[in-house]
Formats: sequence, C-alpha cells, structure tokens
Amino acid sequence: MNDNHKKICLVTGANSGVGKEISIGLAESGAHVIMVCRDFNKGQAALEEIKKVSGSQTIDLLIADLSSQESIQILSKQIYATYPRLDVLINNAGAVLYKKTLSSEGIEMTLATNYLGPLRLTLALQRLLEKSVPSRIINISSDIHKWAKLDLADLQYERRKYQFMKAYAQSKLLLNIITFDLANKFKDRGITVNAVHPGAVKTALGSDNAHSNILKLIDKLIKFFFLTPQKAAKPILDLALSPKLHDVTGKYFVKGKAVQPSLASCDLMLAERVRTVTKRWVIIS
Ligand SMILES: NC(=O)c1ccc[n+]([C@@H]2O[C@H](COP(=O)([O-])OP(=O)(O)OC[C@H]3O[C@@H](n4cnc5c(N)ncnc54)[C@H](OP(=O)(O)O)[C@@H]3O)[C@@H](O)[C@H]2O)c1
Repeated sequence: MNDNHKKICLVTGANSGVGKEISIGLAESGAHVIMVCRDFNKGQAALEEIKKVSGSQTIDLLIADLSSQESIQILSKQIYATYPRLDVLINNAGAVLYKKTLSSEGIEMTLATNYLGPLRLTLALQRLLEKSVPSRIINISSDIHKWAKLDLADLQYERRKYQFMKAYAQSKLLLNIITFDLANKFKDRGITVNAVHPGAVKTALGSDNAHSNILKLIDKLIKFFFLTPQKAAKPILDLALSPKLHDVTGKYFVKGKAVQPSLASCDLMLAERVRTVTKRWVIIS
C-alpha cells in the first residue's frame, strides 16, 4: 500500500474536463476521492466512468451548486458527517458565462462560482483540513487573471458593462489573491495553499457560449491545438500528491513549475481591500 491509499481528496467540478482527469488520477493513486458535481446525472455518469477506468471503488459523489452559499453549507455538513479527515481539497469547478447571469442568491454568477464558491468551501472545510494536517488546498486559476481590471466597487458589473472574459479574468485574479492570502494565514498550521493555471485545455469550458454553427466550428478549431485534459491534470496531481511538494505554499504553478503571477495577485494591500469587500458575502476571520 503506498502513502496515498489513506488520503481523502475532494475535487469540485469532477464530472468533466480537468476535474474528471484529476479524479481519475487520484483514484488510480489509491486515494479516496470525493467528487463534487452540481448535476446528479452528469456526476453519476462520470462516477461510473472513473470507477471503470481507475479500477477503484472508493469514489463518492456529492451534489452541490458552488455558486450558492446554502448549497455549500449543506455540502460541508455532509462532509463533516461522513469523513474523518480531508487531505486534499481541489477547487476546480469554474465557469465562463457569455451573458450576465445571477446566482440563486442574486450574485453575479462568475464571481459566485469562480471566486466566492472556492473561498466559501475552503473556509467551511477549514476545521477538517486542520484536523488532517499536513493537508493541501489547490485552486484552479487561469493565466487570464493577468488581463483583469479590478474595480472593487463594482465586482458584479452593475456600473461597468458586463464582458464575459473580463468577468472571468477578474474572478481568477480574486481567486489568486485569496489563495496567497490564505497561504499566509495557514503558513504555520500545516495547510498549503497554491494556485494553478492548467494551460489552454480542450474541455467544455465556454463551449455553451458558442451559439451559432460558425462559433461552434471556431470553438472546435481553436481547441484542436489545446492540451488534453489528461495532460493538464498531470502536474495538478503532482501538486496534490507528491511528497516533494508537501511544504510548498503560496505559489502559482504553470506546467508544473512555480512562476510569477501578476503583481496584483501578490499585492498585500490589495489583498486587505479584497478581504474587506468580500466580507459582504463571506465571513472571513
Ligand atoms: N479549459 C481551459 O482552457 C482552462 C484554462 C484555464 C483555467 N481553466 C480552469 O480549469 C477549471 C476546470 O475547467 P475545465 O476546463 O475542465 O472545464 P469544464 O469541463 O467545463 O469543467 C468545469 C466544471 O465545473 C463545474 N461547475 C461549473 N459551475 C459550477 C457550479 N456552480 N457548481 C458546481 N460545479 C460547477 C462544471 O459542471 P457542469 O458540467 O455541470 O457544468 C464542470 O464539472 C476551471 O476552474 C477553469 O476556469 C480552464
């Protein structure tokens, strides 16, 4: 039995793309995998596939909409009631929304899913992660964060015109900022927190936005040159499992290497302001 047999690892957005491949890799390593998906049917189909491909039976499916605080609360109650520990939390679920949409709680959906969701889930599971040290948190970000123009007074695009890639870039910059902020907070507590850009990956991300046949064709042509989800998942699996990376924290990884994210990502004064603004939606101590 290798070291990973005892690990319990949670992956959000585990039914497709990068999240599904991470789940397969974790299951193959012998870890107990908790898949968190928002759609039961899609989650169930992925669960069956992952069991078949990996040969593992220790894979569970939990359903949650990560854009909803209420759903995250129910999810975390289920997790505390079922699992004695959590070794790895991979906040992978993410969305690109062509049209401005509001979550069930009235929050702009990109912000709610890509930023508030991972933050709320991480804070909800903090006690379990602390109980399981050394534990790891991995936030799936994007290099697109470098394009973000942050307006802390208008994070929901109420005054600015909504542009989907700008909203997406903003959400990933906020995710980076909070990643490094939490890494500082957890530094001496045995929990590492890192962000990863998985590369440009051939997945369903943003495909719903291709409404006409021409856009669908362009989407397919562009993605022809992208990484496969399997290839993109490999360095994320290393970050989750490799003993060599057990104490690496507060870093931004691309292709398995720690690289410099945007300066805004690491701006401590900006992080303080982001924390203050975020308290409108999330209790941060
Ligand atoms: N693909 C790329 O080129 C690329 C580049 C940089 C970063 N990323 C990041 O990589 C991560 C994985 O994306 P992917 O490329 O693998 O795309 P994907 O195949 O579309 O996977 C996204 C996953 O997130 C789930 N999800 C979306 N909104 C959710 C919500 N409110 N609650 C729960 N789950 C939700 C989706 O569920 P459904 O299937 O139900 O929609 C899906 O399982 C994302 O964070 C993305 O931003 C991707």
